[in-house]
Amino acid sequence: MLRGNAAQRFSTYMTLRANPQRAAIPGIRTTLRQPVNVLQLLVAWAGCRERVIVVVAYASGQPSRWPLLTFCMGEIMDLFDLSGKTAVVTGGSRGIGLMIARGLLEAGARVYISSRKADACAAAERELTQYGEVVAVPADLSAEAECLRLADEIGQREHALNVLVNNAGATWGAPIEEFPATAWDKVVDLNLKAPFLLTQAFLPLLEAGGTHEDPARVINIGSIDGLRVPPFPTYAYSASKAGLHHLTRVLARELGPRRITVNAVAPGPFESKMMAATLKTFGDAIADAAPLKRIGRPDDMAGVAIFLASRAGAYVTGAVIPVDGGIGTTV
Ligand SMILES: NC(=O)c1ccc[n+]([C@@H]2O[C@H](COP(=O)([O-])OP(=O)(O)OC[C@H]3O[C@@H](n4cnc5c(N)ncnc54)[C@H](OP(=O)(O)O)[C@@H]3O)[C@@H](O)[C@H]2O)c1
Repeated sequence: MLRGNAAQRFSTYMTLRANPQRAAIPGIRTTLRQPVNVLQLLVAWAGCRERVIVVVAYASGQPSRWPLLTFCMGEIMDLFDLSGKTAVVTGGSRGIGLMIARGLLEAGARVYISSRKADACAAAERELTQYGEVVAVPADLSAEAECLRLADEIGQREHALNVLVNNAGATWGAPIEEFPATAWDKVVDLNLKAPFLLTQAFLPLLEAGGTHEDPARVINIGSIDGLRVPPFPTYAYSASKAGLHHLTRVLARELGPRRITVNAVAPGPFESKMMAATLKTFGDAIADAAPLKRIGRPDDMAGVAIFLASRAGAYVTGAVIPVDGGIGTTV
């Protein structure tokens, strides 16, 4: 049975026919089988839940009993579907923010990204457009006025917001004797104050986007360095992330009755500009020390964000979820 947005499903079907290799389809699991016989197709169909569509694409010139690709969409996929939702991802121009923005787009959301540099925002917007509807709004979120302006600009375009991802962050490392007071201001302003100020500024839109059954979501990006003592002298960073985890719990209790969940993700090591120098020098050792023997991948970050933003995560609030291959959770 075809459910949801029929026009979207139809255009997906046509996209698949035109380009069977394309697997980035919101809410739909694609399986490439080359070739697939009728028995395999029946097994795939039986493996899906009810409310399933099965689409079979054939390559031109091949015998019609060899479909190139099948896909099925069932209830389990609807659980993670973000179609019709609007999200804001701060620091969405690169690194973890870009991974999350892409994941939310692929799950069907409309996404606003924001960071300081207008050219980086525009480049990320161009890159992400292939996955869905994305708009970049540059802003320096270490300043309260800019947090308010961002909320105001998005408020002029949207009557409601479903997901706010407070991801923009900065770090500073220096030996204790040299660690400057200005580093505390820079790091705490962006990593701890801005998520609060943005949640405050977006509150009317978030309240308009949340319902009892399907609350609006605030997702704060913390760090495993806020859970355990970090190996590097990043005093303000780890303190700001521990503070953000606790602020998450405080806001979860306050905003739950207002139909907004507040959760934090505590990433381990992921490729990004912030982590570039560390991973270049210590990447192999860090991966080797992880119980799962690798650093994080974009899908790991997209997956947790989609879970928290979707119907699947509707009853989760006040949680701090480590996504770290076991680095911080098994010490
Ligand atoms: N990568 C990791 O391994 C890791 C691990 C744990 C936690 N995290 C957390 O994940 C988040 C993203 O980190 P990342 O590794 O992806 O870092 P990144 O590559 O340095 O990206 C940071 C993002 O934030 C933006 N940004 C920086 N300062 C800003 C400001 N004042 N106003 C608005 N946007 C600003 C940057 O764009 P502009 O330069 O254009 O402003 C960029 O888009 C951070 O909160 C970080 O603490 C990362």
